Amino acid sequence: MSLTAYNNVPVPSFMYGTAWKKEATTQLVQSAVNAGFTAIDTANQLIHYQEALAGDALLALAQQGIARDRLFLQTKFTPTNGQDHRTPYDASADLTTQVIQSFDSSLAHLHTDYLDSYVLHGPYQQQGLGVADREVWAAIEGLYRSGRTKMIGISNVTAEQLTQLCVEATVKPMVVQNRCYAARGWDKEVREACRAHGIIYQGFSLLTANQGIFAEPAIRAIAQRLGAGLAQVVFRFAMQIGMLPLTGTTNPQHMKEDLQAEQLILTDEDMQVIETIGM
Ligand SMILES: NC(=O)c1ccc[n+]([C@@H]2O[C@H](COP(=O)([O-])OP(=O)(O)OC[C@H]3O[C@@H](n4cnc5c(N)ncnc54)[C@H](OP(=O)(O)O)[C@@H]3O)[C@@H](O)[C@H]2O)c1
Repeated sequence: MSLTAYNNVPVPSFMYGTAWKKEATTQLVQSAVNAGFTAIDTANQLIHYQEALAGDALLALAQQGIARDRLFLQTKFTPTNGQDHRTPYDASADLTTQVIQSFDSSLAHLHTDYLDSYVLHGPYQQQGLGVADREVWAAIEGLYRSGRTKMIGISNVTAEQLTQLCVEATVKPMVVQNRCYAARGWDKEVREACRAHGIIYQGFSLLTANQGIFAEPAIRAIAQRLGAGLAQVVFRFAMQIGMLPLTGTTNPQHMKEDLQAEQLILTDEDMQVIETIGM
């Protein structure tokens, strides 16, 4: 299964996230691809990700016969406010140079000459977009126009920021990646803005951000009726409502279970129950 954004590039319907895997990143990326994931999310940000170790996994997978073009690789430009002293660019350089240096470093880490998706990790300010966001987005648009990335996107945005970006940008984002809280209607406002602009919404921390819903009898009853796990019900709900979920599991059995969520079918009533469950 795949999704498409407004520029018609196919994106796998489930993504494996590599945050917080530390030294286990190489092994876990290999396990995830061997379990059936074809999309990998990382970031050039050593505080939370080991992009180079994800790259080591890609080398091992290539030796195993899994070629680069069978995988969808997504990584991020993380501004200085999300980095420690180990910035993958000259932090004193202008922002356009920072983006280009970070991008080149990501390509080197991932042993590739193109990305499938390149994402701005987050705007510089919590509300609205400022001069820095505009400069960084223009640099990311330049990478897209050069053909070195097939899609571009933004993460950790409000609906207002996304709408503003879509109005101001020369190239609108094709993906948005946000933490998805059930208590906010599963980020309903941002999902609706994505739908209006033909943008793929990627939801992360679907499980970790919503621990409270797992005690709810209504979702437990749905899982029981389907003979499925609670995580599977949440991932299937995400897919069926039109988003692309990320999973951050470190357990090979959970990798398989998460992928099997795609086979479940939730009724309209199930969907309504889950859509409003934490509100
Ligand atoms: N853009 C951003 O700012 C940003 C921020 C955070 C995350 N992300 C991305 O989103 C990815 C996922 O985030 P996340 O790790 O918070 O996601 P998550 O999938 O909600 O959380 C992972 C947790 O869920 C558990 N889990 C997964 N599948 C399970 C299953 N079938 N049964 C039971 N437990 C299960 C895992 O435990 P086990 O390990 O035991 O399976 C782990 O504790 C990250 O790796 C990263 O790529 C992006």
